[in-house]
Amino acid sequence: MAEPVLSIQDLQRRFGTTGPVQVLDQLTLSLEAGERVAVMGSSGSGKTTLLHLAAGMDTPDAGEVCIAGRNLSALPEPERTRFRARFIGLVFQDFNLIDSLTVRENIELPLWLNHALEHVDRITELAVELGIEPLLERLPEKLSGGEKQRVAIARALVHRPALLLADEPTGSLDQTTAEGVLALFDRITRQHNVTLLMVTHNDEAAALCDRVLHLRHGRLSDH
Ligand SMILES: Nc1ncnc2c1ncn2[C@@H]1O[C@H](COP(=O)(O)OP(=O)(O)O)[C@@H](O)[C@H]1O
Ligand SMILES: [Mg+2]
Repeated sequence: MAEPVLSIQDLQRRFGTTGPVQVLDQLTLSLEAGERVAVMGSSGSGKTTLLHLAAGMDTPDAGEVCIAGRNLSALPEPERTRFRARFIGLVFQDFNLIDSLTVRENIELPLWLNHALEHVDRITELAVELGIEPLLERLPEKLSGGEKQRVAIARALVHRPALLLADEPTGSLDQTTAEGVLALFDRITRQHNVTLLMVTHNDEAAALCDRVLHLRHGRLSDH
């Protein structure tokens, strides 16, 4: 059997020194290539903590995160940063675009970081698929929330990451805009056979995934 794209084993994360809060408690999760998994949980249940650990942006107290067979904790900086830039795409609730760069330059960033500028053609291809081609030379500042999130999705996919991590991607959008962005997100992740871990408390966002898990008391369950 092929190795999972993401494999999380017995992950532990607690915060605070006085009366520490056990946010993740022996959490285990495995994603196969092309699988799209949603993790639902109420505010404060540890969804963002889980994504930060999956991206190697935080270090677990115990347990392991492996992406494409590499144990993130075993990678020293700056290798871990390079690994993240190459293998992971990230979509955040509040877009995280760089305001001083044009839309095109924002999307180009992962190619710069990966010394992969020979793939700049992908920028226009993705922009067409996401309906943002007319915005490529504009600055993000003046764009609507839905447009900004479509730019962020293009930026997260341009370097063809092994794993896409999305943290409440429709959390900052109104209902109608969220539906439009979700429909595009659904189509593009399907077309590109993206392996996706999305955390959300939006039922419609979760519904586009192959599998929905619930985060409660630091663990995942399928009901
Ligand atoms: N860096 C941190 N320092 C202290 N507490 C934190 C930190 N990050 C998260 N927490 C706490 O961990 C819990 C889960 O947070 P989070 O993962 O952001 O939840 P969610 O994304 O599901 O809303 C919360 O109680 C939060 O206050
Ligand atoms: Mg969160």
